[in-house]
Amino acid sequence: MSAKEIDESVWQDLHDSAVSAMRNAYVPYSKFPVGAAALVDDGRVVTGCNVENAAYGVCLCAECGMISDLFRTGGGRLVAFACVDGLGEPASPCGRCRQLLWEHGGADLVLEMPEGRMTMDRVLPGGFGPADLERVWDSEVAGQNQEEE
Ligand code: THU
Repeated sequence: MSAKEIDESVWQDLHDSAVSAMRNAYVPYSKFPVGAAALVDDGRVVTGCNVENAAYGVCLCAECGMISDLFRTGGGRLVAFACVDGLGEPASPCGRCRQLLWEHGGADLVLEMPEGRMTMDRVLPGGFGPADLERVWDSEVAGQNQEEE
């Protein structure tokens, strides 16, 4: 399944799934609930909500929970993504979460952003990903370095 095959009813389902995930958020500190939902390439929908902690820096964003749900339910690639705030309005993923989404959706993942729908390569231009690691691992220089160790 690709983003081009997604009709409005699927976007509505994703939005509704994100809203219902948001309602389970644990946010005693920020009081800013977030819900995230994504369509996987096999048709599954995965979701997550933010879970905060008394040690503020340990906070888990909604997207972190969603990626955990992706692997818990069998893995796959993300095709479309929606994220909402406590008003049920589209929310903008933070920088760290853009990196998570890049890893599991790549440049073609379509995101519902506050400004409208757009692809991941616009949300995280020049994103660093697995291909950057492989380019170096596969190079002869990397092989030589390993032989020297
Ligand atoms: N938050 C998310 O869950 N996802 C984001 O991409 C942005 C921020 C959460 C973290 C924290 O619990 C609350 O929103 C306020 O920053």
